[in-house]
Parts: sequence; C-alpha cells; structure tokens
Amino acid sequence: MRVRVLGAAAGGGFPQWNCGCDNCRGVREGTIRATPRTQDSLAVSPGGDRWFLLNASPEIRSQVESFPSLHPRRPRHSPIEAIVLANGDLDHCLGVFSLREAHPIVIYATERVRHGITESNVFYRTLERFPDQVTWRALKVGREDELAGGDGRPSGLTVEPVAAPGKLPVHLDGLVSPDPEDNVGLRIRERTSGRVLAYFSAIGKLSRSVLQALDGVDCIFFDGTFWSSDELSGPGLMAKTAEDLAHLPIGGEDGSLQALARLSARRRVYIHINNTNPILREDSAERRAVEAAGCEVAFDGMEVTL
Ligand code: MLT
Ligand code: MN
Ligand code: ZN
Repeated sequence: MRVRVLGAAAGGGFPQWNCGCDNCRGVREGTIRATPRTQDSLAVSPGGDRWFLLNASPEIRSQVESFPSLHPRRPRHSPIEAIVLANGDLDHCLGVFSLREAHPIVIYATERVRHGITESNVFYRTLERFPDQVTWRALKVGREDELAGGDGRPSGLTVEPVAAPGKLPVHLDGLVSPDPEDNVGLRIRERTSGRVLAYFSAIGKLSRSVLQALDGVDCIFFDGTFWSSDELSGPGLMAKTAEDLAHLPIGGEDGSLQALARLSARRRVYIHINNTNPILREDSAERRAVEAAGCEVAFDGMEVTL
C-alpha cells in the first residue's frame, strides 16, 4: 500500500492567513528552519494506480496538482476513486465542494458526518446538479468495508472506522447532540499483505478503543495538533486548552508521545499539526523529543510504503 501526505497541517494551514505567531512569521520570512504545510489529507493506493483520499482539505486543488499520480489520464478523468471522511470539520471536508465540476464522486462517511454535510446546507446543491453526482457509502463503527470507486470494483483495500473521542464540527456545535460517529479514526487494511495503516488525526483522548485500534498496526498517522495544553491560551491566541478543542497534546506526562513510543508500529507519524506547534521547527527541542521517541513529523509530499 502506498501512502502520500497531501497536507500535514491542522485547520488554517502553515502559515495561517491571519497568524503572525513566531512560527508563521518565521516561515514566511524564511528565518526559521521549517517548511509550509497545507491542511490535513492523505492519499492511499493499493498499487499506485487507483487512489483514495482520506479527508478532503480546502487546498485539494493544489494538493492534486502537486502529485502527478492524481492527475487525469484522459480529457475527463480522475484517478481519485473515492474520498473517506473522518469527521465533518471544515478542514477535512470543504474540499468536496471544490470537486464540483460535474464529475461523479464517491464518499465514504458515517451517517452522522453525511447528515452534517448534506442537511440544511444550501451549498450542497452544487453537488446535486445531476442524479448520482455523489454516491454516499455509509461507514459503521466496528464494520470493515471494501474501498471501491463508482464502478464498485474491489480495490483490495478495506476501511474500518473507529469511534474516537473528538467533538462536533464547530458549525454544528449547539445544533445537534454529540454522537460517537461524529469523529472516527480510520484503519485501512490491504487484503493481500494484511498491512494496516491507522489514520487518527483528531483525537481528544487515548480511549481504550483507540489504543486497541492502534495496537499491532504497521503505520500510524496521529493527531499532532498541539505540543502543549496551553499552546493557544498561553500566548493569548485563544482562551481554550488543547483538550477543550479535543486534541490530546503531544508533550507532557499524559501526552500522546509517551503512549505512541510504546506502540510497535514501524512508522509513527504526527499529522494535523497546528501552526503554533514547536515540532514544526526542525531544530527545536520538541522536535528532537519526537524523533528520540522514534516518531516522525509529517510534511507535504511525504510518502510511506507499507
Ligand atoms: C479542529 O481540528 O479542531 C477543527 O478543524 C477546528 C475548526 O474547524 O475550526
Ligand atoms: Mn482540524
Ligand atoms: Zn501561527
């Protein structure tokens, strides 16, 4: 299985349009050792020919252009056979509205995530311009489904969603009550090799089901939003902790790094990295701590073969 990081940043990207924090200013001015990143999305493929996107970021157009394997091979064509959505956050699903050029698309998502996108949303009409413009395939926690494109041909990859502690998309907060299928981690398994990719980019807590789902997998992409709990509140950027935003910090005694270091996966990679996070700086102490624990920091264009 081939995995390509299309975007490694959290919502807002790196640098973020309205942010002048040390990292954002430094990367703009070229005064820190760090590279820009677009918003969180992966592309996975069984053999390099047929591709499935995990989340669809607002920067999907430039992400597709940046990766020749995703370019059309005929006048009207896309090697992207389907998109899998892990939640309804705008940084993870706005991209589907950019794929509106009269091309049928297949989207795998839980019923909750589908509902949040299709109901009471006048923008969704742009994806209903002809019958079956979007084919929705329902993901169910605990069930493993074959990944396939519009023709239904099995790809040899399966997807299994895992309920993960998270939160409702900001725009649905207060409108609906929370549900375990609002936010899921994704296990992608290749049938022939048995290799498993775990993509858990929005994780509020290491619940027992999350830890179980990560146990024994070959490669983990994990929530790397914040290094510390007070990363936004400390410098006065926002009066919320990492935990309030349902992102478990990397550092500290109860942070994710300690837990990831104990897992047996060959590759353990942080993704969905907020622009304030010190791990973005290649020469920071926090970056060294991540690497010393055997973990990696995702960047746009990173590839992993399982
Ligand atoms: C998150 O990762 O918490 C969300 O992307 C936040 C947001 O949508 O503003
Ligand atoms: Mn996000
Ligand atoms: Zn910033």
